[in-house]
Amino acid sequence: MFSTPFVLSFSLILSLPILFLLAPHILPPRNPPDPPIPLPDEIDDLSLFSRAASRSSSVSHLSSSHPKLKIAFLFLTNTDLHFAPLWDKFFHKVDPNLFNIYIHADPTANVTRPRSPVFLRHDPFITSKRTYRASPTLISATRRLLATALLDDPSNSFFALVSQYCIPLHSFRYIYHSLFASRSFDLTSSESDSDSTQFGVRVRYKSFVEVISEEPRLWKRYTARGRYKMMPEVPFHKFRVGSQFFIMTRKHALLVIKDRSLWRKFKVPCYRSDECYPEEHYFPTLLSMQDPDGVTHYTLTRVNWTGTRNGHPYTYRPTEVSAILIDRLRQSNYSSSYLFARKFTPDCLTPLLKLADSVIFRD
Ligand SMILES: *[C@@H]1O[C@H](CO)[C@@H](O)[C@H](O)[C@H]1NC(C)=O
Ligand SMILES: *[C@@H]1O[C@H](CO)[C@@H](O)[C@H](O)[C@H]1NC(C)=O
Ligand SMILES: *[C@@H]1O[C@H](CO)[C@@H](O)[C@H](O)[C@H]1NC(C)=O
Repeated sequence: MFSTPFVLSFSLILSLPILFLLAPHILPPRNPPDPPIPLPDEIDDLSLFSRAASRSSSVSHLSSSHPKLKIAFLFLTNTDLHFAPLWDKFFHKVDPNLFNIYIHADPTANVTRPRSPVFLRHDPFITSKRTYRASPTLISATRRLLATALLDDPSNSFFALVSQYCIPLHSFRYIYHSLFASRSFDLTSSESDSDSTQFGVRVRYKSFVEVISEEPRLWKRYTARGRYKMMPEVPFHKFRVGSQFFIMTRKHALLVIKDRSLWRKFKVPCYRSDECYPEEHYFPTLLSMQDPDGVTHYTLTRVNWTGTRNGHPYTYRPTEVSAILIDRLRQSNYSSSYLFARKFTPDCLTPLLKLADSVIFRD
């Protein structure tokens, strides 16, 4: 009979839409949302943030006649710190009164403690919780670093967030001078910002937090938890995006750990993790809402987004590491120079160490 092949193909065609309908139920969803933050973790954090907020002052360093201004380096990692030997060179012979190091390492990652002397001087590992890529757990981890550093030392004045893929682009001396003393480092600041100095340092500081309001993916990210989920605290016209990596003043670090209302919104998991990236929105949105004139709107951590895939920036390989690359990565339209750069594969360590004294840390 002629009908059998016909009926067969006809029923096949008919079943196609049914397959499409069923597929989402049969196949696991792509990029499922991450689990919500466990309540005990939230409670731990709240108690840490309250202690840090009540015991630390935002202005301590300038009220003393011998200010000891320190930079708190906050490492956020879920692997070994591949570049620890480079950071070790960076901190080598630097007065220990000028910096502190804090490390938040995902406890499930079995991160090896660096054996380099600067990381051994005092235990830099803070109490850490599980982190997931592109999820609110990265905001929590950052707030934990800020709160721990605020509590630990009233001299911590700038808080620089870096990851295991970041490298310094200059010597410690250059970075310290740029942040605390230079009147010309920030090319976007007006005369009055850099004017007044006290004890040889500026009185007015800004946080180097990137804040961008025009971005094509902003609406998708804003509605990633549901159309009205961010309301009323965060209307769309106040929603911002910017680099996860920043250098923040003590005043703003305190403001961040005191925040409750925006955190309630940003901690809500998104439908899809690949449309969320809350860690790129929370800090720029919060600071631009509460102190827009106190932030530079640009970051000091260079990243290369050309040819980006799956939300990962371009990652430099050993053969690309050169004095010319370092020089190109420093060039900025907003400041005298970028101070840090990412991302580099772990095996870039050897060529980077070769350039360390002659190029990277020469100034
Ligand atoms: C970490 O160590 C534990 C215990 O040794 C092991 O069960 C786990 O698989 C390790 N995790 C990773 C990511 O290596
Ligand atoms: C950025 O990455 C692209 C490859 O995607 C590369 O061609 C370019 O040279 C990189 N830019 C810098 C400044 O390294
Ligand atoms: C600086 O601005 C120019 C003009 O907008 C742009 O082409 C260039 O890529 C910018 N440089 C950096 C390092 O962002």
